[in-house]
Amino acid sequence: QWQALWAERLIAWHRVAGRRTLPWHTRDPYRIWLSEVMLQQTQVPTVIPYYERFVATWPTVEALAAAPLEAVLAAWSGLGYYARARNLHRAAQQIVRAWGGTWPRDPDAWAQLPGVGRSTAAAICAFAFGTRAAILDGNVERVLVRLFGIATPLPDTAVKRQLWQIAEALLPESPTAMPEYTQAQMDLGALVCTRGIPNCAYCPVAQWCTAYAVGIAAALPQRKAR
Ligand code: ADE
Repeated sequence: QWQALWAERLIAWHRVAGRRTLPWHTRDPYRIWLSEVMLQQTQVPTVIPYYERFVATWPTVEALAAAPLEAVLAAWSGLGYYARARNLHRAAQQIVRAWGGTWPRDPDAWAQLPGVGRSTAAAICAFAFGTRAAILDGNVERVLVRLFGIATPLPDTAVKRQLWQIAEALLPESPTAMPEYTQAQMDLGALVCTRGIPNCAYCPVAQWCTAYAVGIAAALPQRKAR
């Protein structure tokens, strides 16, 4: 019954080997949302100075909503995927108009915003409110595919559905565990269960990993030929 130990094991590992202090480790939903959008396609070291400049320039969602789009695009310059900046600005205006200073704790509400998918919405609510919502970004997908030894070439809608179910089944019971658990999953994928050859010798859950047991971790996930 390793599933009952999973969240606890990840959190214990994160306490000694995870990224414990990142600038967006706050309870402010605005800052968490901003960081998660920046981190969608950009690595942590690149994001940090952009994130710091954004929150210094626009400390609240109201300030960001009132900013000229051109100023937001200029501040985004160098981060890439500029649709994210346009969506961010539009979403800020939606948040102010539709939510008027109250933040929903339900990921489904966040997922209505432009640029916020199911996994980003779950991450925001887990970090800001401790909502028991599962994330499934590229890192977590790779971890779970290896853990269960899923050799089906991705993307695959049936596997995707299965992975969301697994991610939900592995959530910790306690909302207070959700922020650290969510960061721990991201860090396991980014630091240990990496693309290519993973660092299984440093993996806190290798004993439960099918791909590790069978010796195929580096070969997963399989990708469809394109
Ligand atoms: N990628 C997406 N969200 C992240 C976070 N909160 N910390 C580090 N990397 C991330």
